[in-house]
Amino acid sequence: MATTLPILTPGQQPPPPAPDRARSPGRLLDSHGRCIQDVRLSITDRCNFRCIYCMEPGDRFLPKMELLTLDEYTRLVSILLELGIRTLRITGGEPTLYPELDTLIERIGKLDLDDIAMTTNGSNLDLQRLEAWHSDGLRRITFSLDTLREERMRTITRSKTSVQDVLGATRLAREAGFPRPKVNAVIIRGINDDEVVDFAGLARDEDLDVRFIEFMPLDSSRAWNRDHVVDADEMLRNIQDQYELKSHENANPHSTSMNWTFADDAPGRIGMIAPVSRPFCGACNRLRITAEGRIRPCLFSHEEWDIRSMLRSGSSNEAVARAIVDMAWTKQAGHGIDQTDFVQPERTMSAIGG
Ligand code: 5AD
Ligand code: SF4
Repeated sequence: MATTLPILTPGQQPPPPAPDRARSPGRLLDSHGRCIQDVRLSITDRCNFRCIYCMEPGDRFLPKMELLTLDEYTRLVSILLELGIRTLRITGGEPTLYPELDTLIERIGKLDLDDIAMTTNGSNLDLQRLEAWHSDGLRRITFSLDTLREERMRTITRSKTSVQDVLGATRLAREAGFPRPKVNAVIIRGINDDEVVDFAGLARDEDLDVRFIEFMPLDSSRAWNRDHVVDADEMLRNIQDQYELKSHENANPHSTSMNWTFADDAPGRIGMIAPVSRPFCGACNRLRITAEGRIRPCLFSHEEWDIRSMLRSGSSNEAVARAIVDMAWTKQAGHGIDQTDFVQPERTMSAIGG
């Protein structure tokens, strides 16, 4: 777990003040000309899986006191809304392990956001809860699933949850009214790269939106290297050997994925998220908030800014908003994975929130 991050606490060592031009009402800007409108909010660092590319069995979780409270999460989201945030994704760890998730969705669902989504490992869902979330304003659910083979599932997730459990959860989500569920599959050479075509078949058979994600250096074991990455072009070639695809334009200019449908008009969609081979940092409009209330302007930030101390020390919403403007301004231009001086951030995906 992260112990030596340079946490710069507002009040002690705040981020450098952003210039006046960063303070345009209702707009959160960074110094590279990007306007931030999307937030990934992690509500727990806990997970009941220990995916080999994310956590190690011995990784420890933060004490509850360190995490924001329900009121603090809600307050933070309202402040961000004032700053121009339009879309929110709830992440973890595994967000369904957060005891007050239902109330959080109920509260956030009442806010004037264009989209509220959640990423889950799908191990912990039932129809009644899914229906309640849908009627409370959760719009989309993404499932993480990296293999369709049961034995491999146990090896990858180091859990007892089966592939069938997760596929069952995607069907329940649809039954509860969610549109075509997304499935995120992180493809790693030598682990599951022989399943790319099977996943494309799954998209067709189950009318799912399967997103293939290139493996990023965010693993707890620090085993990542370039040889493990199966790039999007290679995955696409493999799929096209089997299925004819047609490119599907994404209406969202900030989308991180390139998308395809099947040329024979079969159901299902394919997406490639290629942060390593085709970085999309220039179009990134995201800000991340960790479960303990730290702002990470980028997945690969080495700096993160503590907002919890402000929330807990009587700061006004205006003061917190001003601090967030300063923090957002520090967002780095890109991740630089391909640069020789790239240094992997200390936090893993489970501690950042995907
Ligand atoms: N590289 C790419 N994707 C990752 N995820 C977790 N760790 C990594 C990594 N190192 C994915 C999860 C989940 C999403 C939030 O991020 O599988 O689908
Ligand atoms: Fe949990 Fe997701 Fe990390 Fe797997 S990748 S251990 S499901 S947080």
